[in-house]
Amino acid sequence: MIVLGIETSCDETGVALYDTAAWENGDLAAKGILGQGLHSQIAMHREYGGVVPELASRDHIRRVLPLLDESLAQAKLTLGQIDAVAFTQGPGLAGALLVGSAFAKSLAQGLNLPSIGVHHLEGHLLSPLLGTSAPSFPFIALLVSGGHTQLMLVSKVGHYELLGETLDDAAGEAFDKTAKLLGLDYPGGTAISKLAEKGQVGRFDLPKPMLHSKDLDFSFSGLKTAVLNQVKKWDAGELKSPEQMAQFHADLARSFVDSLVAVLVSKSEKALKQTGCKHLVLAGGVGANQQLRSALNEKAKKGGFEVHYPPLELCTDNGVMIAFAGALRMLADSKGLSKSGAFDIKPRWDLASNNLT
Ligand code: KG4
Ligand code: ZN
Repeated sequence: MIVLGIETSCDETGVALYDTAAWENGDLAAKGILGQGLHSQIAMHREYGGVVPELASRDHIRRVLPLLDESLAQAKLTLGQIDAVAFTQGPGLAGALLVGSAFAKSLAQGLNLPSIGVHHLEGHLLSPLLGTSAPSFPFIALLVSGGHTQLMLVSKVGHYELLGETLDDAAGEAFDKTAKLLGLDYPGGTAISKLAEKGQVGRFDLPKPMLHSKDLDFSFSGLKTAVLNQVKKWDAGELKSPEQMAQFHADLARSFVDSLVAVLVSKSEKALKQTGCKHLVLAGGVGANQQLRSALNEKAKKGGFEVHYPPLELCTDNGVMIAFAGALRMLADSKGLSKSGAFDIKPRWDLASNNLT
C-alpha cells in the first residue's frame, strides 16, 4: 500500500510517499520512504518574530502541489499508484490545517481513494520507528515541540496514555521566547543550543521548575521569566564591552538549557520508573537538541534504559511522519479511514481521545 502524507499544521509544508511493504516485511521502516518534499516557512515568518497564521495558510496553498509533484518524481510514481491519503487533521493553526485537509480530501475524492486524518503528535511519536535503532512497544515518548511538552505511554500503535504535560509554555516555546530575550532570531531553539555550547556552566542559578513535584507535569514560563530578570539586571548595570555582553548571553543560554534539560530528563526517568518501561523515545522539534540528547544518553547508560531518536531531519515537522503514522494506523485498524469528501479539522485535539479500541 502506498500512502501519501500531507503535513500543513504550522509553518512547514510536508509531502511524502510511504510504501508499507517495508514495515510489513519487517525491514528497516525507513526503506518505505519513497519520496518526500518539504518547504519551511521559517525565513518568511522570521521578520515578524513568530508564525503569522494567515501568511502560513497562503504559503501552504502555494507549496503543496509542487511538493507533491516533487515527491512523485523522486518516487518515480504517478498519482494512479497511490492507495490512500493521510493528512494532519490537528492540532495546529486552523487555516493551515484547512489547506492540508482540503487538498488531501479533494485529491482522495478525485482518485476515489480512502483518506485518514492523522494527529500531528502521533506523527512525531511514531517517527523514531523510522530510525536505525527502533524502539519496541511499550515505550515512553517524550514529546517536545513548539506547541507541546508531554510524556506519553505508548503500548502499541493507536494506544496512547497521557502521563504528564506542561501547565504553561511548551519546551520549544520556552526556547523561542528565551532566544528572543537574548537577541536571537525566531525560532531560536538551534541558535540557543549553539550559543550554550560557548557558555560557562553554573554562572546563573536559574530555577528547575517542578523538578521535585510528584507528578509528571512541567512548567516552563517561570524559567523564561528568570532569564528575563537576568537580562533586565544586566541592562540596568554599568556599560560592558561587546565581549562581556557576548559571554553573558552564552552563559545565560547555558544555564537556561541546563535547567530545562535537567527537568525533561528527570521527569522522563520518573515516567520510565513508574511504568516499568525500558524504552524512551524522544520526538518533536526540541528532540533535535544536542544537550538534551547527550544528557539522556548519559542517564540511559546508568539507568538501564534505551533512548530512541527519529532520524535528525525527521525531528521537526515533515510529511514523512504523517504518511507513516497514517499507514501504521490503517494497518492496525481501518476505523479511521473515510471515503467521504467532507472534512473537519481539529485545531485543539487530545491524542488519547483518538485511540483505537
Ligand atoms: O515539532 P516542531 O517542528 O513544530 C511543532 O510541532 O511545534 O518543533 C519546533 C520547535 C521550535 O520551538 C524550535 O525552536 C524547536 O522545536 N527546536 C529546537 C531545536 N531545533 C528545533 N529546540 C532546541 N534545540 C534544537 N536544536
Ligand atoms: Zn510538530
